Amino acid sequence: MTRRAVLAGSGALAIGGGLAAVLGAGGRTPVGASTTAGRRVLKAGTTSAPLIDEASQIPVWGYNGSVPGPALRLGQGEAFEVLLENALEEETTIHWHGVRVPNTMDGVPHLTQPPVEPGGRFRYAFTPEDAGTFWYHPHQRSFEQVGRGLYGPLIIEEAEPPQVDRDLVWMLDDWRLNDQGQISGGFGSRHDAMMAGRIGNTITINGKPAAPLIARPNERIRLRLVNAANARIFGLDFGELDPMVVALDGQPVEPHRLSAPLLLGPAMRADLIVDFDYPAGTRHSLRDVFYDGLEYELTTFECQGKEVRERRLPDPAPLPPNPVAEPELATAERHRIIFGGGMMGMMGRTASGSDARNEQRTGSGMMMERMGGSGMMSGGMMGWTVNGVSASGHVHDPIISAARGTTLLLDMTNETAWWHPIHLHGHSFRVLSRDGQPTRYQEWQDTVLMAPEERVEIAFVADNPGDWMFHCHILEHQAAGMMATIRVN
Ligand code: C2O
Ligand code: CU
Repeated sequence: MTRRAVLAGSGALAIGGGLAAVLGAGGRTPVGASTTAGRRVLKAGTTSAPLIDEASQIPVWGYNGSVPGPALRLGQGEAFEVLLENALEEETTIHWHGVRVPNTMDGVPHLTQPPVEPGGRFRYAFTPEDAGTFWYHPHQRSFEQVGRGLYGPLIIEEAEPPQVDRDLVWMLDDWRLNDQGQISGGFGSRHDAMMAGRIGNTITINGKPAAPLIARPNERIRLRLVNAANARIFGLDFGELDPMVVALDGQPVEPHRLSAPLLLGPAMRADLIVDFDYPAGTRHSLRDVFYDGLEYELTTFECQGKEVRERRLPDPAPLPPNPVAEPELATAERHRIIFGGGMMGMMGRTASGSDARNEQRTGSGMMMERMGGSGMMSGGMMGWTVNGVSASGHVHDPIISAARGTTLLLDMTNETAWWHPIHLHGHSFRVLSRDGQPTRYQEWQDTVLMAPEERVEIAFVADNPGDWMFHCHILEHQAAGMMATIRVN
């Protein structure tokens, strides 16, 4: 399949599946004894998954033979232990994305632990302080390991969870399949790295094609969305369904309705409360409208059967807050962070920056074709940078070294023509402002999506000692230099 065909294919995504897949598309993945504390094993290895339809078994990488890996559910404050077994032919680790773990449990090869050799094991143990929707994935060659399917949900339950009829996790992903229906090679290509990252042509929810979500009238569903894609940004338009957002990146937020599509960059999560106050027989479409010209229906929500209750439940109360230290802005230490690099510098000769912006929203690669193919990629190629440095490996001189307990205020500017979901390990931060305007909810996040040329201020108390990765979660951008380290002493 030519690249053109792959790209064209991304307009007509492989969305299908029948009723048989309905429950599977959203149900709790049963995990043996998942609610009791104790030791679990996650074995990273090769397996297969029905990415296109129930009959398709496509070679992938997964934990315990499945994509996503087992849904790990445990209680807030409950001790947690996982033994990672590496059945891959390369080194790996597990990173517990968004969880404020001790540094030695963070899963960053060479920085916080030695990578786990093929055939090797590593024991992770920690007690999560925060309830919420998190996920796990390798931090070793993650552009390929995550891209081939190594990821899974980690759900930390509130002591008193909000009352819902069902609690569903949807791990969104996209895959780049070739015309044999196999995962295309070329992971980490310079072409993907310098543009929008590896955008795929086949979307899955929980490792399968999306199937309709069937609900009963007046049913209340907690829908936990996780974007596990390497590079794809989702812009989710729920239309009339109008859910309430109650948490972002696992952290409670003042419950609110969406006033625009929900933007979910790679690694970001959102917890929604969806009330189906519609009669049986109604159908609502969930559309992904992020990439201009490539909008598509991701799935549908359908009301069927007998009503669960006579009328819809009242709006949900806020989730109980997590014990995250409040930043002290008056005494904060302010740091400027500049993200740079990518295609824009070169673009000056051939196209404007705004063309590059549009290119990211119309899918990776078309600009390349228009500009004459890969020939132009030689020469002026540059990496992505944080404060002028394009990093390699996982061990760097820290860009910030803070005394424990300091409030850090990062004043970040995206000087590139591309979107970047910027992730900090070991902490959650408040998003204070965007382009000088205070954010409405001052939301806590661990990954903040920055638009081209956008300026975003975040703040957090640097209270977790260690060296922490700070990087773009478009995994190809990270690999091509868009990462740094923040040290908390
Ligand atoms: Cu989800 Cu540094 O990663
Ligand atoms: Cu990026």
